[in-house]
Amino acid sequence: MAVDRVICTRNNVTYSSLRKAMCTGVRTIDELTKATGVCNECDGCKTEIIAILASVCGCRNVLLEDVINAVNSGADTVDKVGLISGAGLDCGRCKVLIQNIIDLGY
Ligand code: FES
Ligand code: FES
Repeated sequence: MAVDRVICTRNNVTYSSLRKAMCTGVRTIDELTKATGVCNECDGCKTEIIAILASVCGCRNVLLEDVINAVNSGADTVDKVGLISGAGLDCGRCKVLIQNIIDLGY
């Protein structure tokens, strides 16, 4: 299993805590700052945070917009999103986030 990484070094915010926040509906940097304490003060982190927010499935390189498109075209289960986009078909770690996107519609 991959070792968790610290993304915001000032406030010691890890990659996994960002992903957990996304699974509760966090989609923007402002929301991430409120939910996780990311200090949001350096451009390097910001670039990485934007990429993390945009990505749903690292195994298959599936983006948030791809999953939203799948949901908008009628995929109402994690399995159906997987059939359309490929997300969730390998390690399965992104399935909770996919379900959250289905639940919220964004
Ligand atoms: S150290 Fe906090 S966002 Fe870069
Ligand atoms: S991160 Fe989506 S299947 Fe591994």
